[in-house]
Amino acid sequence: MSEIPKIEIRHLYKRYEPESDQKGLLFSKNINPDKVFKDGEGYVLSDINLSVAEGEFHVFLGASGCGKTTLLNIIAGLLSKTDGQVLMDGKEISGISPERGLVFQNADSALFPWLTAENNVAYALKAKKLSSDGQKQRIAKVLELVGLTGHEKKYPAELSGGMRQRLQIARSIAADPQVLIMDEPFGALDAQTRELLQRELIRIWKTTGKTILFVTHDITEAVILGEKISILSSSPDAKVAYSEKVPFSYPRNSEDPDFVQFTASLHKKLNSAIWIHDEKRSRSFSLYEETA
Ligand SMILES: Nc1ncnc2c1ncn2[C@@H]1O[C@H](COP(=O)(O)OP(=O)(O)O)[C@@H](O)[C@H]1O
Ligand SMILES: [Mg+2]
Repeated sequence: MSEIPKIEIRHLYKRYEPESDQKGLLFSKNINPDKVFKDGEGYVLSDINLSVAEGEFHVFLGASGCGKTTLLNIIAGLLSKTDGQVLMDGKEISGISPERGLVFQNADSALFPWLTAENNVAYALKAKKLSSDGQKQRIAKVLELVGLTGHEKKYPAELSGGMRQRLQIARSIAADPQVLIMDEPFGALDAQTRELLQRELIRIWKTTGKTILFVTHDITEAVILGEKISILSSSPDAKVAYSEKVPFSYPRNSEDPDFVQFTASLHKKLNSAIWIHDEKRSRSFSLYEETA
């Protein structure tokens, strides 16, 4: 076992630069472009420090607009940082890499609507240069892993919301990345589908042993899933306000009294993290036209 963390973040600062970060807007669709931070106006993330061990399921919890997507996009290599270090296996992350699989909240913009389920997965395997048989086997295996066997020939529009998220997960793990980066992947699903997919994700994590970075604003979801939870305070100047281990084994029962108590204490911590930047809070929230 290596001593080097899988992902390590040291003194990370991020300020959006209107020109170079235009691409970032694609991934943050509920932003009003007229109200984003302008040059020099402030840091979204300010001195983020964090270390994630190999194979860890690490959940980031924070209010809407606090910078969760910004942080994940930087770790993914989709967005540049302003200052600090973001390391994977001790090496600086620069640009996207097949070592990091991505799952976004909105499957509709992430999947290719003109490709069938199996061809969406095949697309992610392009760089792998597998034989045609090898590719077929790989596709069948990941579709089975996410419970989509039998739906190979369907287009995304023919799948339910939950199935589209399963397909995104299949696509993101097809190339066998070491780290899965998941940005509120179950945020738009109904409660029952969400619970089902949470259980499935734990099974997939246990089966594959991947390191998972998972963002949510849902406290119960964080405690159901996370081995470790980091709470971000609000932006501007969001920081990791708390980081702690979840003291329960899997599977977890959200009705268990210990679970309820732990969740309540986390709720208090989240509230205090949100209010850390009290006077900046209203400004930060008014940047949103609406929340998803
Ligand atoms: N492309 C962008 N350009 C400028 N500001 C942005 C951009 N994307 C996000 N922001 C700002 O960064 C802050 C954090 O946004 P985001 O990371 O999407 O938060 P979260 O995912 O926690 O809801 C918000 O105040 C938002 O206005
Ligand atoms: Mg977000």
